[in-house]
Amino acid sequence: MTDPRPLTAGVMGWPITHSKSPLIFAHWFGLAGLNGRYCHLAVSEDDFEAVATTLPKAGFRGVNVTVPHKIRALEIADTARPTARAMGAANLLIFTGEGEIIADNTDGYGFIENLKSGAPNWQPNTAPAVVLGAGGASRAVVHALLSEGVPSIRLLNRSKRKAEALAKDLVGKIDVIAWDDRAAALDGAGLLVNGTSLGMTGKPELTIPLDDLPATAVVTDLVYAPLETDLLARARTAGHPVVDGLGMLLHQARPAFRAWFGIDPVVDQTLREICLK
Ligand code: ATR
Repeated sequence: MTDPRPLTAGVMGWPITHSKSPLIFAHWFGLAGLNGRYCHLAVSEDDFEAVATTLPKAGFRGVNVTVPHKIRALEIADTARPTARAMGAANLLIFTGEGEIIADNTDGYGFIENLKSGAPNWQPNTAPAVVLGAGGASRAVVHALLSEGVPSIRLLNRSKRKAEALAKDLVGKIDVIAWDDRAAALDGAGLLVNGTSLGMTGKPELTIPLDDLPATAVVTDLVYAPLETDLLARARTAGHPVVDGLGMLLHQARPAFRAWFGIDPVVDQTLREICLK
C-alpha cells in the first residue's frame, strides 16, 4: 500500500545551519521527480526527545541526526540496528508508519562506499589500517573497517585515553599507538585515514611524514574543506591512491533516502559540485 504521509524529512542538530544535507536531498528529489521536502531542524539538547518523538505525528518519514544528538537519538529509539548499537550512536532515525522509531548509523557505510568508489583496488584484508583521531567520525571509521575485514587497526590520537576508550568499546583488533609515533606507525599499512580535524580550513596542518608508508597504501581524509588537504596533496605527489572526504558525507545520506522514500539515489559529479559551492 502507498504510504499516505508526505515526503518529508530533515536533519536535527544544534547548531545546524552549516549542514549541506538539504542540498543533497533536494538534488535527489529532483532526479527522482519527487515532490519532497528536507529541512534544517535547529533543536537544542533539552528539546531533542520531545521534538524527535513528535515529528512522526507531523508526517515526517524520519530525520538525520547530528551533533550533539547522536547518542540521545539511539536512546530514544524503539529499536536499533546492530551498527548503531555497536557504535553507541545514531545518525539516522526512521519513523515507521506504525509509530515505531528505528535508529541506525550510516557514517561507516558512507566511509566505506566512498573509499571503494575512490580507490577500487584497495584490498581490506591484506594489511593493517592506520586511523588518526578518536572522535565520533573515527569511531564509525574503525567499526566499518573492522566489519569490512581489515585485520587490525593502528589507532592514534592526541589524547591517548580517548583512543583507549574507543578500542575498549569496539570489538576487534585495535592497537593504540602514541600520537608522537605516527610516522613509524605507517610501516606496512595498507590504508591511512585522517579522522582528526587537522588540515581543515582554519586549523593547523597534520604533520606526518609519509616515507614509511608502502607505495600502494591508500590515503584518505575525512576533512573536505579544503577538498584537497595538504595530506592528500603530499600523498598524491608520493604516488599513493588518494580519496577525498566529501564522498563520505554524500554516501552516508543514501541509506536515509532509501529507507524513507524507497529509492537508492546515486552520488554523481553534479551532486559533488553542488556541495562544493
Ligand atoms: P568528530 O566527532 O567529527 O570526530 P571531534 O570529536 O571533535 O570530532 O574529534 C576531533 C579529533 O581531532 C579528535 O581526535 C582530536 O583529538 P583529541 O581527542 O586529542 O582532542 C583531534 N584533534 C583536534 N585538534 C588536534 C590537534 N591540534 N592535534 C592533534 N589532534 C587534534
